[in-house]
Amino acid sequence: MCGIIGYLGSHQAVPVILDGLKRLEYRGYDSAGLAVASPGRIHVLRAAGKLSNLEERAWETTLHGTLGVGHTRWATHGAPTEENAHPQMDASETVAVVHNGILENYARLRHELLDAGIPLSSDTDTELIAQLLGRVAGPLAERVLRVLPRLEGQYAVVAVSRDEPDTLVAFRNGPPLVLGVGEGEFLVASDVTALVARTRKVIFLENGDVAVMTREGIRIVDATGTPVEREVEELDWDPGRAEKGGYRHFMLKEIHEQPDAIRNTVLAYLDAERTGVALDGLGFEPERLEGVRRIHLVACGTSWHACLVGKFFVERLAGLPVEVDYASEYRYRSPLVGSDTLVVGVTQSGETADTLAAMEMAAEAGALLGTICNVRGSSAWRAATARLLTQAGPEIGVASTKAFTTQLVALLLLGLGLRSSRGLADREDRELVAALQRLPLAVEQTLAVDQELYGRGVELITAGDDSLFLGRGILYPIALEGALKLKEISYLHAEGYPAGEMKHGPIALVQEGFPVVALATAIPTRDKLLGNLMEVRSRGASLIAVAEAGATSVTSLVDLVLPVPDVPILLQPVVTAVPLQLLAYHVAVELGLDVDQPRNLAKSVTVE
Ligand code: AGP
Repeated sequence: MCGIIGYLGSHQAVPVILDGLKRLEYRGYDSAGLAVASPGRIHVLRAAGKLSNLEERAWETTLHGTLGVGHTRWATHGAPTEENAHPQMDASETVAVVHNGILENYARLRHELLDAGIPLSSDTDTELIAQLLGRVAGPLAERVLRVLPRLEGQYAVVAVSRDEPDTLVAFRNGPPLVLGVGEGEFLVASDVTALVARTRKVIFLENGDVAVMTREGIRIVDATGTPVEREVEELDWDPGRAEKGGYRHFMLKEIHEQPDAIRNTVLAYLDAERTGVALDGLGFEPERLEGVRRIHLVACGTSWHACLVGKFFVERLAGLPVEVDYASEYRYRSPLVGSDTLVVGVTQSGETADTLAAMEMAAEAGALLGTICNVRGSSAWRAATARLLTQAGPEIGVASTKAFTTQLVALLLLGLGLRSSRGLADREDRELVAALQRLPLAVEQTLAVDQELYGRGVELITAGDDSLFLGRGILYPIALEGALKLKEISYLHAEGYPAGEMKHGPIALVQEGFPVVALATAIPTRDKLLGNLMEVRSRGASLIAVAEAGATSVTSLVDLVLPVPDVPILLQPVVTAVPLQLLAYHVAVELGLDVDQPRNLAKSVTVE
């Protein structure tokens, strides 16, 4: 969850670190800090709150040095105060470390250090790593190898030493770390977003790796000190895609990037004639799938909502039974999983700890392990045998938007690919594939809608403290997603509900002016949904509907229609998600909230 950056090169470290932290701030933003090592001294600067507080301090202080580390924090152990911010140092200030993760033997180590008379200055588990490193002698890399067996739990750590101003040491078990190989410089970061402005050559560290960067080069060893080989990979990410590009917020930019993101995802997996889906070479080939009798989709948050839609796609297209699980529940419920199961972890970041743990369990049970993921080279990507990359590019806004719609598209492509590998493809598939290629245009039309309509939507939503999002069938998960978007960035309570279930309880909430948002496009159960809307209307609810323009049965019933183009049913989840993203965005802006960095959240949740 926290963001980590380390730098060793010929430039001053502070501006490089601050730039890296800006690109990583979406990972955690309750405090930040940096350390610069110069011969005989480590200078540490830390500040509670947003990164801008640290920046102010950094500009007031002149810190010289070409080796340093930086950190932006999402608090686990200890409140988000300056004392608990990273970097943390040992008592004699010889070592500074930044850390992402959680030490599970925190309490034991803390008591041990206190019993040994070591004064602790924070409540963090990170300080314990620094203190342990400070208590052993030798070069930093050797100290790390001696301390490693003492650390239990999840960690990605970067350390510098006062006595080695030319050495940066990084080690991980769980949360990711990626090294950047630049021109005469090395970097290390918690994710590639922080590196692409300086280099596209990267090395993904594996669990258990210890990377030692000096001005001579990089050496990677395992926990026993034995050298290991890791490949240098070339990223194809354009650094400009991780910047706001004139938009007020990343979220708005990413909402508007959806037509391109969808187009790229569709085109990546169509066959040469563009009439079918070709999943060749991705691990989903017929020989791989032979023996697969069921599919499990596991994910968290928005990605889980995508899976709920994916169940409709895959069951309808491929005729295989699909179960959808929250990753955090999956491995604790003893699922029936084995060699006849394809388990697909769906994840934007590829680093969500719960999803990775569920995937690992499925692989151990003998399942064919797949992923739909937005980050090539991420942990999920490397763990899986069968892989589909969503082509959304870097998603910085904490509220997921383009990653969600490209996940929907990837799940649809997976359904079509599985269908074809089972010999079921027919003319209807070609029509769907043609419609998929027109989908970016439909999303563009949705985005071009008069923004004043959203102003009216904001008025209706902010008239209350709660709201209900209703949908049926394939659009019920979109109701869940619309409610989640509103909750996470506007802090207004919202619940997604299957419209037909509403009368079994939630209708008790409805009173004069209570906002209800309905997904009311042309699905077979639309008339039933309209009946449900009448039930809430007659109790005073205000109604916002997402529907195709000119659907008079809807317009005559509701206060506001957010229009979408008419598209085939299987594509409706994609186009209807967009107005709900915009609605949540405009509500949060109207309330003056921090759209891109909502409170308490972090972009990728790397702790269970
Ligand atoms: C969505 O807006 C969220 N911020 C969150 O629910 C997210 O989808 C979830 O944490 C899963 O992340 P992943 O896709 O990177 O695994």
